[in-house]
Parts: sequence; structure tokens; C-alpha cells
Amino acid sequence: MKNLLVTGGAGFIGSNFVRYMLGKYSDIYVVVFDKLTYAGNLDNLEDVSQDPRYKFVRGDIANRDAVARVLASNEIDTVVNFAAESHVDRSILNPDAFIQTDVVGVYVLLDESRKHGVERFLQVSTDEVYGSIPEGYFKEGDPLEPNSPYAASKAGGELMVRAYHVTYGLNTVVTRGSNTFGPYQYPEKLLPLFITNAIDDEPLPLYGDGMQVRDWLYVDDHCSGIDLVLQKGEPGEVYNLGGGNERHNIDVIRQMLAILGKPESLIRHVEDRPGHDRRYALDNTRIRRLGWRFGQSFEEALERTVRWYVENEWWWRKIKSGEYRRYYEAQYGRRLRGASQQD
Ligand code: NAD
Ligand code: DAU
Repeated sequence: MKNLLVTGGAGFIGSNFVRYMLGKYSDIYVVVFDKLTYAGNLDNLEDVSQDPRYKFVRGDIANRDAVARVLASNEIDTVVNFAAESHVDRSILNPDAFIQTDVVGVYVLLDESRKHGVERFLQVSTDEVYGSIPEGYFKEGDPLEPNSPYAASKAGGELMVRAYHVTYGLNTVVTRGSNTFGPYQYPEKLLPLFITNAIDDEPLPLYGDGMQVRDWLYVDDHCSGIDLVLQKGEPGEVYNLGGGNERHNIDVIRQMLAILGKPESLIRHVEDRPGHDRRYALDNTRIRRLGWRFGQSFEEALERTVRWYVENEWWWRKIKSGEYRRYYEAQYGRRLRGASQQD
């Protein structure tokens, strides 16, 4: 791995991954290729922007010419694909962009990677491809039963990765990560949305009874897992990256409010997300066998994350205006007007 292409590297996990890789490897050249959708943000990469081993190229993974150019002109040998439409609620409001990027875009990226002799291709996927599990843990060989347009589009992209390995021998690996949190996460996802709303004493729109379960993974651990799979994963294989921190949503939010010193009366129970998956849980034995270790406990990571949003208002206040306000009204306006308060 010498010349690494990080697609979607201006988003949440991608930008943390770029920082992680530049910090860990001295002899690496990193090209970020990103369309800069509403979720892409060059502020996320500001601290590496002067590094001579880093370059940014704006482009769409579904644009064949642009992909071919960035692969050829930078002699790319390794691709890590983070580029995606990533938010379940937006996929319910409008699935179009999800099909275009998460399915068609992945296909174009695979096809051009094959033609340009890319030596390793890692697809960043998600535990949502399995669907919901009432008890027990998903293993990598379990059937895919995605329930939202987002999850279905990620499953489609992932299956195309499999096909490119089996049919054309492209050296691929896939990671299926669980719910990730940390600095630079767009404030539409549960934790950054609720932390920043709570800082402003705004209501926290919790879907349904708040008893859904997610398996939380700190972003640095997600990045180290991706790096490990990139280095040591078997070609054609899939790896679950589960944080091992199963929590009910309401408990995570209560813990976050306690760290901030804000009251639970900010919580509003609002109309549920359609098709809402009740529980995600991953068996992460396969990647632990490769030597995956967590850097911190869930509690430490949550404290660190809350502190980051408190100390970096410059980052999220810019985002929470403009287009964001229109999305917020479409997603939460009616819900919050019909909400019930936490006792
Ligand atoms: P994000 O929404 O913060 O970032 C996505 C990035 O992709 C943005 O920078 C955006 O501009 C870029 N992008 C979108 N469409 C593009 C296109 N057509 N061409 C090029 N760039 C494009 O997402 P994230 O939370 O950082 O997630 C990154 C990846 O990890 C996604 O593939 C997601 O499915 C996966 N994942 C996320 C989580 C999570 O909890 N956030 C967990 C598991 C897996
Ligand atoms: O599991 C991995 C997935 O985690 C990733 O593939 C996705 O990209 C990422 O967005 C995330 O999906 P979720 O739907 O689990 O994350 P989200 O932050 O949207 O929601 C987490 C839980 O919180 C979920 O049960 C829905 C609930 N929720 C979310 C929002 C935004 C609320 O109760 N209220 C909210 O306003």
C-alpha cells in the first residue's frame, strides 16, 4: 500500500480514517476523492490539509471519467470506499441518491479499479445489511435482510463487490461496521444531533419508546479495524466490526445528558421511524482473531465525544443552518409538534 485512494474521505469516518492513516504510516500518499454532498466537509480535513502526503480531488464515484482520471494520475494501488449516502431517515424521505451512489457508484468504482490494476479494494459496509435481530449476534455468513432503502442500497453495493472478486479476481475485502460515533459526525445522526440540541436546550426527538438497541463503536476503533482488515483480511472475505457496546437508545441519551449536566425533560418521544430496526448486534470473533483491540471503553469514548462537540462549536454551528434547517423541519417539524415529553 503506497498510494491510497479514500473515497468519501471528507465525511465523518473517512476524514477520521485519513487522519489515522497519516498518523500511523510515514510512507503513504493519501488522495481523498469526494463529491462534497451536504455531508462532505473540508473543515473535517483542515488539520491535514498542509500535509505533503495528502491531496484532495472533488469528484463523484459514479462518474466513470473522473474515477479513471484520479486512479491513473495518482498511480493508485489501494482503494478504501467510504463514499455513500449514509443516513437512514434521508433514505426514507428520498431514496434516489442512495441507489445512485451506494449501488451505481460502487459498481463504477469497482469496474475502474479492475481496469486500472488496483491491488486491494476495501468496501466500507454496515451491520444494517443484516436487518434486525431480536436476540443473539449476526455472523458474517448470515443472510442479508436489509429493511431501509439505505440498508438495501448498501447491501446491493456489497454484493457487487463480491461479484467483482468471484468473477474478475479483484482483491476485495468488506467491513460491516456498527453504529459509529465521535468527532466530525454530521449532526443528523443520533449522538451529534442530540448533543448539539442539548447544548442549545432544544428538544431531543427520540423515536418511539427509545428502547431500540444499537451496538456502539468509537470512530478511532472503526478506523483501526478497517486498517487491520486492509492489511490482513483474506481476499473476498467479510469482517464484522462490532463495538460490543449494546445499549438502548434512551440509556445512551440519559448518559449523554448526565455528562452535559442537562435535564432529561429535553427528551421528546416522537413518531417512530418507519421500518425501524429494533436491535443490531454483531459477532466480532473473526476480526478479533486478526488482533483487533479497542482503544477505550464506551464511557470514556462518550465523554470524549461530548467534550469535542462542546469545544468545537465553530464546526457544527455552521452546518446547523441553511439546507440543514429545511431538512430538520421536514424530518422533525410535525413529529415535534405532536410529541410527548419524558416523565
Ligand atoms: P458521511 O455521510 O459522514 O460521509 C459520506 C461522504 O461521502 C461525504 O463526504 C460525501 O460527500 C461523500 N459522498 C457521497 N456521495 C458521493 C459520491 N457519489 N461520490 C463521492 N463522494 C460521495 O458518512 P459516514 O458516517 O462517514 O459513513 C461512511 C461510510 O461508512 C458509509 O459507506 C457508511 O455506509 C459506512 N458506515 C457508517 C457507519 C456510521 O455509523 N456512521 C457505520 C457503519 C458503516
Ligand atoms: O449501524 C450502522 C449504521 O448506523 C450506519 O450504517 C449508518 O450510516 C448510520 O447512520 C447508523 O444508522 P442508524 O439508523 O442506526 O443511526 P441513527 O443515528 O440515525 O439512529 C440511531 C438510533 O437512534 C436509531 O435507533 C434511531 C434513533 N434515532 C435517531 C435519530 C436521528 C432517534 O430516536 N431519533 C433521531 O432523531
